Amino acid sequence: MQLVLVRTVTGLEHLAAEELAVAGHRVVEVSKRQVIVEASPEVVERPPLVADDLFEVYGVAPDPGRTRAGLTAALSEAVRSAPIARGAFAVSASFQGPRNFGRYDVEDLVGERIARLTGGRYHSRRYGVAPPEERSDWRVVLDGKTLWVSRRPYAVPLHRRTWRRQTVRGSLHPPVAAAMARLAGLAPGHEVLDPFCGAGTLLLEARALEPRARYAGVDRDPAALEAARANGPEGVKWRRGDARRVDDPVDRILTNPSGTTA
Ligand SMILES: C[S@@+](CC[C@H](N)C(=O)[O-])C[C@H]1O[C@@H](n2cnc3c(N)ncnc32)[C@H](O)[C@@H]1O
Repeated sequence: MQLVLVRTVTGLEHLAAEELAVAGHRVVEVSKRQVIVEASPEVVERPPLVADDLFEVYGVAPDPGRTRAGLTAALSEAVRSAPIARGAFAVSASFQGPRNFGRYDVEDLVGERIARLTGGRYHSRRYGVAPPEERSDWRVVLDGKTLWVSRRPYAVPLHRRTWRRQTVRGSLHPPVAAAMARLAGLAPGHEVLDPFCGAGTLLLEARALEPRARYAGVDRDPAALEAARANGPEGVKWRRGDARRVDDPVDRILTNPSGTTA
């Protein structure tokens, strides 16, 4: 079992926790924008769709509170080992509550420690220099209770989907679309329609969640349909049309029709 830190959009924490629990992982803690899980190794290959990002935990200590001395001591306690990786890496930190240090102080302390343990090349974000494209990303969270030190097992954040080539105005953040699809209670054989499909985010996330349903997307804008087809060339029937004239018999309508229909 691996301790995993899952980050979410605010409000989707419990939905992500439910998705992880249904997949057989043990949810340890749910807090603001975060779910901690004892996960089996498959979580990396089959991560939750509702999650924004996922990190493997390499260090845990009680949140040291305000002082920099406390932070330094907590980090020595938390991070005793890390996998050898000589490439470049960056650190991103966040914390809650008042502190006598800034986020770059946390990042640099963690970065220097990890560099010593792994032989990796730490790139500080303190002076605004972009880290190299080829790198691994560490994430540090001080949530008021616990200090978490973790590393993303992927090159890019989870919410950056490989299927997404194009967007339209109003395109949804994929984990939010995945959350809507979960709430729709899709089942095998369902006919699912998005009559304002835009670039297709909802149906493509829904299909990842329930591949045995049937999906149709309608939009009146040819540019939107082109985007949808580029994003999902197979598995969804995209067509041009006016939502006001669509009367397909369906089991579920999954849509975000913001914008004018006039
Ligand atoms: C907010 S966007 C949908 C975004 C989409 N969920 C996504 O993530 O890409 C709304 C879409 O509704 C389409 N639309 C607006 N009025 C329409 C109508 N009467 N019939 C069909 N499509 C319409 C627009 O062209 C636009 O692509």
